[in-house]
Amino acid sequence: MTETPTREVPLSALTVEQKAGLLSGQDTWSTREIAEAGIRAVRLSDGPHGLRVQEEGGDNFGMHPSLPATCFPPAVALGSSWDPDLVATVGEALGLEAASAGVDILLGPGVNIKRSPLCGRNFEYFSEDPLLSGVLGAAYVNGLQSTGVGASVKHFAANNQEADRMRVSAEVDERTLREIYLAAFEHVVAEANPATVMCSYNRINGTYSSENRWLLTDVLRDEWGFRGAVVSDWGAVHNPPAAVKAGLDLEMPSTNGRSARQLTQAVASGELDESDLDRSVERVRALAAYGGTSGPADFGKHHRLARKAAAACVVLLKNDDALPLAKDTRVAVIGEFARAPRFQGGGSSNVRASEVVSFCDALAEYAGPGVGFAAGFRTDGEDQQALLNEAIAVARDCEIALVFAGLSESEESEGFDRTTLDLPVGQVELIRAVSRVAPKTVVVLSHGGVVSLEGWHDDVDAIVDGFLLGQAGGAAIADVLYGVVNPSGKLAETIPLRLEDTPAFGNFPGERGRVVYGERLLVGYRSFSTRKVAVRYPFGHGLSYTDFGIRDLTVTPIARDRVRVNLVVDNVGDRDGAHVVQVYVDAGSCGEVLRPARELRAFAKVNVVAGGSEAVELNLDRRAFAYWDTEISDWVVTPGEYRVIVGRDAVAVDAESVVELAGDEITRVLTLGSTVQEWFDHPIVGPVLLDTFQSDLLAAIAQPGTLRVMGTLPMQKVVNILGESLPAGAVDSLMAMTVGG
Ligand code: BGC
Repeated sequence: MTETPTREVPLSALTVEQKAGLLSGQDTWSTREIAEAGIRAVRLSDGPHGLRVQEEGGDNFGMHPSLPATCFPPAVALGSSWDPDLVATVGEALGLEAASAGVDILLGPGVNIKRSPLCGRNFEYFSEDPLLSGVLGAAYVNGLQSTGVGASVKHFAANNQEADRMRVSAEVDERTLREIYLAAFEHVVAEANPATVMCSYNRINGTYSSENRWLLTDVLRDEWGFRGAVVSDWGAVHNPPAAVKAGLDLEMPSTNGRSARQLTQAVASGELDESDLDRSVERVRALAAYGGTSGPADFGKHHRLARKAAAACVVLLKNDDALPLAKDTRVAVIGEFARAPRFQGGGSSNVRASEVVSFCDALAEYAGPGVGFAAGFRTDGEDQQALLNEAIAVARDCEIALVFAGLSESEESEGFDRTTLDLPVGQVELIRAVSRVAPKTVVVLSHGGVVSLEGWHDDVDAIVDGFLLGQAGGAAIADVLYGVVNPSGKLAETIPLRLEDTPAFGNFPGERGRVVYGERLLVGYRSFSTRKVAVRYPFGHGLSYTDFGIRDLTVTPIARDRVRVNLVVDNVGDRDGAHVVQVYVDAGSCGEVLRPARELRAFAKVNVVAGGSEAVELNLDRRAFAYWDTEISDWVVTPGEYRVIVGRDAVAVDAESVVELAGDEITRVLTLGSTVQEWFDHPIVGPVLLDTFQSDLLAAIAQPGTLRVMGTLPMQKVVNILGESLPAGAVDSLMAMTVGG
């Protein structure tokens, strides 16, 4: 943090030029300083899973070097921990490193939804589910901001692909935005009061996020009560006056005075109210309150935390009696990633790790002599045959082969999307060849976006998903393989059987500057469960070295629109472990709008000792049952029955209960454009409609068989036919009864 100002002058003491100058960066990473007015520069830096502090003249593409920092597990891994306490601890450590480097605002977390598994930046996002993303995002912000350093929740909003990310228009209907793409941001704003929200590059329904008043002001501030500053993604502003008017406060990085001049001129011409400028200036000045005080970062301690966190993220996908390994098992270690780990993603989040531990380095802690190693493949694809032969020779001579496979940095990064879910062909060949000769084969995967397991899944005995685990990932993998840590990670994203099955297929990444979110709410497991499409491993899946059972589920309504869930988790195995209780709601039969067959509505990670039990209580609030109603522009809980499902994952049900909720009494406004059916269904008008109209025709239409056919007629048509025969004022008085309720 730069020096705290002695005294800030009142706003009225600043000229329009000075104020306009404060609304864009001084350089790549700082806001403008006005020393004579006591206004200090605020320093921002990437984020999200490690500090990327650059010296003067840095860049936002991760091209120039940065100072050493701890590389914690990126969000793709942290998402799989399902553990908000752990994420908060990582957030706090990030804050301490930021504070010690003089950084006031750390640019994270990223809470965008993984709409397609192909998005090149999925490694930087938590999940395909908004609740999981929102809860972990809020935990990150609370942990980080507990150190005094501010957060920047990004990228607001609907930034779900890298293809054409600076211009593409995400064409999304409002209900889908509210329920899927905005919900995680809303949760973070409500639960963690972040210092800043970073607006995305893309357009939403034609309007750039940076100029989207509905997004930045109506929803973010007026509805959600956001009190911080909106900062642009680096270079996301096209029209500074329009952006400030819409609710953007700080444009980053510097535009060398151009934006300030445009804002000054806009005030002079009356295009922009000075009060709009002042409002944003106050918000930018308020950022000076952020920035922690901290001594030098304890990299040793943070490396140990990075190892613990990484181990909690690992997902054991499959285990046919192969794991955990005994210390004296004769293992063959195969795969380049075992000695040169892939542990973070490429682009603006790329951290210069303070140290890196590979699996080969970590192995010394566990295994005795007799461990063979073969690189198996090279990420540049050279010498494939020779490396394959060498790997087969090593695999023949072991009890268990451990194959470290995955994607290299050239295959996925910020800036571009993938076009396939497949592992490189050479690696698939390697896995299959090794599994043919080794008594047992375990595959350990490193990747930022989902990879397909097809073509080799059934050939191997165990699969360990390591995603990108940060700088201590090699040690964490060893901890899990040797059973020192019992795996407890759960998939935060579905692993499909085919790319063609994924919900955005055909719409992603769009064309000619537009991407249509045609799958609407059916994103991730919401699609697979509703459409009953088989997957390789569902959202929420993850094995353990012990077994858990669920009993004594009770679901108690505690109001018209909320319930309490109680249950007991038993650890029925012989190892201590952690279980993630996942509560889904199926509102399928409620109401006239689409409801996904499964929606995660609460979760808790609980540690249970071997043979022990833990009682769990979770509250499902109103939002757990609500949908966004576009007609009345609000959340609605339809009266009716809801299935509350305690799932082992998004498919396997451990226990369930049906609960009846009174829900909301909604009085919809009737017009002559409303259908006859809507008039009959109306809770106030329906019961008195026939008596008021006194019409034989309407009485005939009201017969069930006829109503089915005629119910879609607008009431105007019936009124036209009835004409003078209707009692005077009958229609108007009925419509008036529906207004204002
Ligand atoms: C990225 C942001 C990042 C910023 C600063 C942009 O290109 O989208 O996530 O925080 O650069 O590096």
